[in-house]
Amino acid sequence: MELKGFNTKAVHSGDLKIPQIGNVVTPIFENSTFLYPNDNNDAYLDNTRGLPYVYSRWGNPTVQSLEEKYSSLENCGYGLAFSSGMAAITSTILGTLKKGDNLLAINELYGQTFYFFSKTLKNYGINVDFISVDNLNNLKIDNKNYKAIYIESITNPLLEVPDIIKIAKYCNENNIILIDDATFASPYNQNPLDLGVDIVIHSGTKYISGHSDVLIGLVGTSKNYYKNIVIMRKTLGAVPDAFQSYLTYRGLKTLGLRMEKHNYNGGKISEFLSKSEKITDVYYPGLVNNKYHGIASRNLKAFGGMVSFKLRGGIDNSHKFIKELKIPAYAASLGGVESLITLPVETTHSSLSIEERYKTGITDNLIRLSLGIEDYEDLIDDFKNSLDKL
Ligand SMILES: Cc1ncc(COP(=O)(O)O)c(C=O)c1O
Repeated sequence: MELKGFNTKAVHSGDLKIPQIGNVVTPIFENSTFLYPNDNNDAYLDNTRGLPYVYSRWGNPTVQSLEEKYSSLENCGYGLAFSSGMAAITSTILGTLKKGDNLLAINELYGQTFYFFSKTLKNYGINVDFISVDNLNNLKIDNKNYKAIYIESITNPLLEVPDIIKIAKYCNENNIILIDDATFASPYNQNPLDLGVDIVIHSGTKYISGHSDVLIGLVGTSKNYYKNIVIMRKTLGAVPDAFQSYLTYRGLKTLGLRMEKHNYNGGKISEFLSKSEKITDVYYPGLVNNKYHGIASRNLKAFGGMVSFKLRGGIDNSHKFIKELKIPAYAASLGGVESLITLPVETTHSSLSIEERYKTGITDNLIRLSLGIEDYEDLIDDFKNSLDKL
C-alpha cells in the first residue's frame, strides 16, 4: 500500500526493519566499516552504489534510513544527508558547477553561503553574480549564460519570498539549474521540487531535526544531479554520523505536528506585534499587508514560525526588551521546539559594514524571532510584559 499523507509517511517511511530482530524503529549503526566482500545473497544494499555496505563515508544503514524518510517527505527520488547544512551546500555546488560556470544568487543569503559564493568560489574559477529577490521575481536577469540560479525559499532575516514557480519556469525554458535552500520553509510548508526546483537543500539543524541538538544537512533531487553530489560528499567526507542521523530521523516523525504549531504561532505573534505602537515594522509573509503575501500564498502551504520586527529606539532598547523576556532564549539558530530570539546585527549579519546593513534594511533595531511550539498565550504575555517595560 502506498503511504500518502505527510504524517503517515513521516512516521513510517524509510524505517530499517530487520526481520531476524523484529525492531520497530531504525537501529543506530555506529560502524565505520562492514565485512568486505559481503557475498550474503540477502545483504542490505547501500543505495549510493546498489551494493552491500562497505564503509560509512560511502553509505551507512542509519543514514540511509533517514535519507529515505526525508525523500518520501520531499517527494523526490533521491535524498542525501550531510554533516551540516553548509556541508550540503558546498557539496551540492562543487558537485554541480565547474570552473568557468556562472552562478546567479539572491543577495539576501545565509551569511556563510554568501561567504562561500563571494569569496571561496571565485578562487576556484566559478563566477557568482548577485541579484535582489525583487529583481529575480520580475525576471530582470542578465543574459549571462547562467549554469545555475540559487535562491532561498524564505530569506533571512527579512523574510522575502522568491516566486519559485515563476523562476523555475524561466530556468526550465533557459536550461538553467535551479537550486533552493528551503530551510526556513521545511518540507512540510513547501516541496520545492514539485514547484520546478532541481535541487533542494536544508540545514536539517533547524526544523527538520527540530530540537536544537543536531547539526545536519539534507539534499533532495533527481538521479541526474544526485550522481555528482554523492561523489562530492564522499570526496569531501561531508557525511553525518549514525547518531546525528538517528536523532534527525526521529525528529522527522513529528515534523508535521511541530510545523502546525510553528505556523500557528507565527500567525498569532506577528498579528500581536503588528498592533504594538512600540514596533515600527513586522516582517512575516503570512500578514495580508506583507509585500510577499501573494507570492508566499502561491508558493508555500503555510508561512512558518520565523518573524522579524523593528522596535522603536536603538540597540539598547532592543537589549532591554530581550532581557525582560522569560520564554525565548537569546540565541542564534532557529527551527527548534523552543523559541529563540536574536539581533541579526550581532549574530548572522555582524560581518556587514554599517552601510551594507542599512542598504539591506538590517538595522540595529531589527529583531529576529524563531517561534517554538509553546502556547501562544504565554508567548504573547511574555512579549506584552517586556514591551510594557520599555
Ligand atoms: C538558511 C540557512 N541555510 C544554511 C544554513 C547552514 O546550516 P548549518 O548551520 O546546519 O551548517 C543555515 C544556518 O543557520 C541557514 O539558516
